[in-house]
Amino acid sequence: MTYLTWSDSLAVGNNFIDNDHKKLIEMVNRLHALMHEGKGKEVLDKVLHNLVTYTQDHFRREEDLMRSLGFADYQRHKDEHDKLLKQVLDLQQKFDSGAATLSIQVLHFLRDWLIHHIGESDQKLAAAARGR
Ligand SMILES: [Fe+2]
Ligand SMILES: [Fe+2]
Repeated sequence: MTYLTWSDSLAVGNNFIDNDHKKLIEMVNRLHALMHEGKGKEVLDKVLHNLVTYTQDHFRREEDLMRSLGFADYQRHKDEHDKLLKQVLDLQQKFDSGAATLSIQVLHFLRDWLIHHIGESDQKLAAAARGR
């Protein structure tokens, strides 16, 4: 059973952004599947770490594109990225130190954030990239 399914409703119509999002969704699904299988902390920490790293790279790619476009909404969009990253890095630190365990709520949060951010902010960015 797939946790988060890619569909055309998530496509923003920009190749690299859509490919990055597909990969992110794949990674969230992988984390979900491993949690479901009851994998231990070590495995989950590693997959979460990869997800965080890939997210940072993806955000950087979008921010580079925004700067190259002179995108008017740059700061607001970047603030959303920064806020999410801060939350996720805080969580990761708690998992690493053993102060928290990875819960399904965290995955729900990531899923909802992704769907919302892609549907609103990334759609606007892709539209700006198309319209230049
Ligand atoms: Fe974004
Ligand atoms: Fe994105």
